[in-house]
Amino acid sequence: MRFFIALALSSLATTLAYQVIQPNAAVGWSSEGGQLLTWERADTDPLNFTVVLTNVDRSVFPDGDQVLAAQVDGNLKQVYLNPPAGGWPTGVAFRVNLAQDTDNLNSLYAQSAQFEIKPPNITSSSSTRASTASFTRPPPTTTAASTIPVTTPASVPSPSAAGSVGGDTPLNAGTRAFSVHAGLAPLFAAMCLFLA
Ligand SMILES: *[C@@H]1O[C@H](CO)[C@@H](O)[C@H](O)[C@H]1NC(C)=O
Ligand SMILES: *[C@@H]1O[C@H](CO)[C@@H](O)[C@H](O)[C@H]1NC(C)=O
Repeated sequence: MRFFIALALSSLATTLAYQVIQPNAAVGWSSEGGQLLTWERADTDPLNFTVVLTNVDRSVFPDGDQVLAAQVDGNLKQVYLNPPAGGWPTGVAFRVNLAQDTDNLNSLYAQSAQFEIKPPNITSSSSTRASTASFTRPPPTTTAASTIPVTTPASVPSPSAAGSVGGDTPLNAGTRAFSVHAGLAPLFAAMCLFLA
């Protein structure tokens, strides 16, 4: 065990140079917005590099190579890369190259592991669907009835005040709420009166 660690350290010491940490096989990119590139740099490394997105699979990435950023300061250790002009491609087996400069894209300081660029999550669109669904609910009064009691019971535990007020007026709304939220009817009645 110790032998392997020593071996690993010595091979690190001799080859330590620019090294892409992220993206990698486990943590890829999304095809929406700026994407995170992180790396390690040794003191002896060149000061800056040019970032190139590559994929040997032309059916995934017809461009093959695309420069994402030039003359990135190596000491930053991380940078968010803007999508290329045509937007991020999606698919597997992408790599990021840290190249010398735009005139020497084949002179590499480091290359990432293969990683995937995925479309953004579906969950965001499902949450917007849920919120638009609540907008289609018919009368605004019932919307208030369903939203208000959810937040109030914990913060307004005054059944006596609610009860005395509840006998007064908004029977119509009060009974409707009663059928839905039995225990919350007095609270709701008080709320209606308060709002009126
Ligand atoms: C980028 O690195 C090269 C080589 O290390 C250096 O000659 C050049 O001045 C650097 N450019 C910037 C903007 O840091
Ligand atoms: C997508 O969802 C997964 C799991 O829910 C999460 O780990 C990941 O961070 C999400 N990605 C984005 C770009 O939101």
